[in-house]
Amino acid sequence: MSDEPVPAPPADANVADPRPSSNRDAPLLRLFVNIDHVATLRQARRGHEPDPVDAARLCEDAGADGITAHLREDRRHIQDLDIERLAAERRTPLNLECAATEAMLLLAERLRPQEVTLVPERREEVTTEGGLAVRQHVTLLAEAVTRLRRAGVRSSLFIDPEPDAIACAAELGADAIELHTGRYAHHPDDPRTLAALARGAVLGRGLGLAVHAGHGLTVRNVGPVAAIREIEELNIGHSIVSRAVFVGLPEAVREIRHAMDSARARVT
Ligand code: PXP
Repeated sequence: MSDEPVPAPPADANVADPRPSSNRDAPLLRLFVNIDHVATLRQARRGHEPDPVDAARLCEDAGADGITAHLREDRRHIQDLDIERLAAERRTPLNLECAATEAMLLLAERLRPQEVTLVPERREEVTTEGGLAVRQHVTLLAEAVTRLRRAGVRSSLFIDPEPDAIACAAELGADAIELHTGRYAHHPDDPRTLAALARGAVLGRGLGLAVHAGHGLTVRNVGPVAAIREIEELNIGHSIVSRAVFVGLPEAVREIRHAMDSARARVT
């Protein structure tokens, strides 16, 4: 063994990295908090409270790395003005979730959030029910991704963890994929659901895509997903806002952050 002293890391290196130094090879995991359901509560009375932009600030202060908001065609929760204000007042990156329609692309080109996640949308669904049929809509999605890139916006495609959808996302030039964790969230004890996410993450990363994940994640089930080292970003909404009713939004964000970070800390 060499007697050479090990150089100290720069003073600011890994300040925010909770992992022991031996485990710092795995990429850090970003938490984007989806604030849609703060707006759901406001829309119940069509008033002004609670304000999702105030909620975004609280989440950022409590440790969110970014904010996600889904502007649905039916405007059932987030409204156009919310997106305008989030884009203008953001302190962390904004991930705009939307369908790949002309109206949404025009909005994204004008407001230029850091990231747009393209999702399928059906009016009658309670929430986003499945991933994009990428192969079926390859031309439309390729055009959307190209327009976003020209506007300086990263593109992410929300897809099921299926090899062909992942390969197609890479072929059409998306920057990222968001793996739909819904099946895992509904069947956490079925090892196939987690294995599909892990395989999808490895494939996506191998094809040069950034890999995100989300849908139905909670303090209780987030650990195994956070431990997939290829995943670099999680989008979590409903469980955080639900928990916030009891413990407040900052505490709800800190709880999920802790669950994610401690799972990631064990990744070697
Ligand atoms: N990612 C995408 C693409 C979504 O559509 C949603 C739901 O709006 C989420 C993540 C967040 O899911 P949940 O609210 O269940 O955490």
